[in-house]
Amino acid sequence: MKNVFCKILFLILLYISHQSVTAQQVYEFELDTKKIGSPIQSTMYGLFFEDINFGADGGLYAELVKNRSFDFPQSLMGWNTFGKVEVRKDNLLFDQNPTYLLLSGSGHPHKWTGIENEGFRGIGFKKDATYRFSVWAKKVSGEEDQKIRVEFIDSKSNNIGSQELAINSYDWGKYEMIMPAKVTEAKGRLRIFFTTKGTIAVDHVSLFPTDTYKGRENGLRKDLAEALADIHPGVFRFPGGCIVEGTDLDTRYDWKKTVGPVENRPVNENRWHYTFTHRFFPDYYQSYGLGFYEFFLLSEDIGAEPLPVLNCGLACQYQNNGEHCHIPVGDLDSYIQDALDLIEFANGAVTSTWGKLRAEMGHPEPFNLKYIGIGNEQWGREYVERLEPFVKAIRAKYPQVKIIGSSGPSSDGKEFDYLWPEMKRLKADLVDEHYYKDPDWFLSNAGRYDNYDRKGPAVFAGEYASHDHSTGKQNNFLSALSEAAFMTGLERNADIVHMCTYAPLFAHVDGWQWNPDMIWFDNLYMVKTPNYYIQQLYAQNKGTNVMKLVRSIDKNAITGQDGLYSSAVYDKERNCFIIKIVNISKEAKDIKIKLAGFNKKTNFTVGDCVMVQHDDMRAINTLDLPSVIVPQKTEAYIDSNTLSAKAQPQSFNIYKIVL
Ligand code: AHR
Repeated sequence: MKNVFCKILFLILLYISHQSVTAQQVYEFELDTKKIGSPIQSTMYGLFFEDINFGADGGLYAELVKNRSFDFPQSLMGWNTFGKVEVRKDNLLFDQNPTYLLLSGSGHPHKWTGIENEGFRGIGFKKDATYRFSVWAKKVSGEEDQKIRVEFIDSKSNNIGSQELAINSYDWGKYEMIMPAKVTEAKGRLRIFFTTKGTIAVDHVSLFPTDTYKGRENGLRKDLAEALADIHPGVFRFPGGCIVEGTDLDTRYDWKKTVGPVENRPVNENRWHYTFTHRFFPDYYQSYGLGFYEFFLLSEDIGAEPLPVLNCGLACQYQNNGEHCHIPVGDLDSYIQDALDLIEFANGAVTSTWGKLRAEMGHPEPFNLKYIGIGNEQWGREYVERLEPFVKAIRAKYPQVKIIGSSGPSSDGKEFDYLWPEMKRLKADLVDEHYYKDPDWFLSNAGRYDNYDRKGPAVFAGEYASHDHSTGKQNNFLSALSEAAFMTGLERNADIVHMCTYAPLFAHVDGWQWNPDMIWFDNLYMVKTPNYYIQQLYAQNKGTNVMKLVRSIDKNAITGQDGLYSSAVYDKERNCFIIKIVNISKEAKDIKIKLAGFNKKTNFTVGDCVMVQHDDMRAINTLDLPSVIVPQKTEAYIDSNTLSAKAQPQSFNIYKIVL
């Protein structure tokens, strides 16, 4: 009996001692405070924008009417018509958008003529908010003023806003009025009754909230644009993505079609309408209402360097194998000229052809464009031989503009290995790398750039996102935390990684083709994913210089040992060190960071510390529950020259040491 008792006591003591050893395990790091490292580029953390998932039309671009100019190939797509409505295609005023409608009196007092637009999976109206309705119209017959009654309709067919408009001229003109909505409705419609007896012509029927971002007409959806500004992005890539290439060259993104009066910007096919037949959206077109001018303006508004990416004479190589789909190398002149003209549009004097257009559109000052990407996910010799003449021409005319080349669609492999040396040979300034990989890839690649060639072009991680296939690629916490871990490696190597942009940016909950995406929205609200918050925290805490942070035990960088990832920066303006620690394990970790180089009497304080944490890696934010995963406060302590903190299980932490 005594023997058994002794054994139990021994086991209890062993358990307790083991527990205290575990509890006391401290992870010791050292920050070399005396050696301020390489500068971090202002462009380091940025945004990638593409009109995918209804990101532009139906999303950031605040227009609420789909097919507003009736120039989709099916002229009435998005519209219901009733009574006497005729489609015409000879509007010479808008030669690139020639389709319009004739509305004629119904011929009977109890019958009606009119049209009704379904919006982008409905139209979102907010109670008491006001909307700018506009239409290009003219009288065709009828002595008196001809009239329309414009109505906002809810999902149950109730009228939730109504106003009359008189069309009083036989010449085309723009008519507009401001209308309030009586109730909030996510799936509304716009209905227009023709209420007189003659005939009118109508074109470019448009409806915007008046409360757009910065109050601009032809503006952007305020909540979405503000979410972008709140990130504090350093660079803004536009317009994609595959959309740059087009399924064929006729449908490539042609920047020149996206500037000038919106009424005459031709509609383009959006390749995302058919890229995935399991997510097929036959009504997805590009109005180009959010075009290159709006892109430059938004970049300026949110303080990001604009980064346009242009077609290099290749249509999407995934979709086209043969040379016949592409522009022969000898015939690239107009494509190269497009690139030169875009730089002139952004930076040229108001007396230059394209600078003049910029000024006419409202921005005489240059946009100060510094970067240009040529080609998106291109590969092979056909890319290199096309890129080369672009590089020559841009270098000759605009030597100060930095050129970004592609490393293909994958993070490694044959194309990647071929393209990097070619980019070096062509002296590209940056090389665009893309990786859509699973969380394990992100976790095991936190050291990807530690031994990269420092002598070649810099890296632009131009498209990346962690894809957790086991949950249907949701924007779950695992995806966000694995990106945070990986990004410690981007930051540690900011001497060669000069830009990174998560992709894609936006997705409409009822109209997406690709996931995950950084911001989801419906017609009224939006939700920031945990991935958004990771990007935001990096961008807002990017600092100005890389600092060396290592494990005390072996002086190695912290790249996943014991489930920990870390990087550190110095911020000149705020005079502080900022340390980022990701703990992917299920246990809290006691961390001590010695500020090597400072003696024990130096006075530091701990600044605001933030963490993003969740116990469930599968957790997500939704429109209904948008705050499941949000940044929250955390704590750290300074004792003599050592910072102590407890990194919570499954957490991303930012600690600030103010000097
Ligand atoms: O971000 C979605 C798509 O992924 C981009 O259009 C393309 O460049 C990449 O394949």
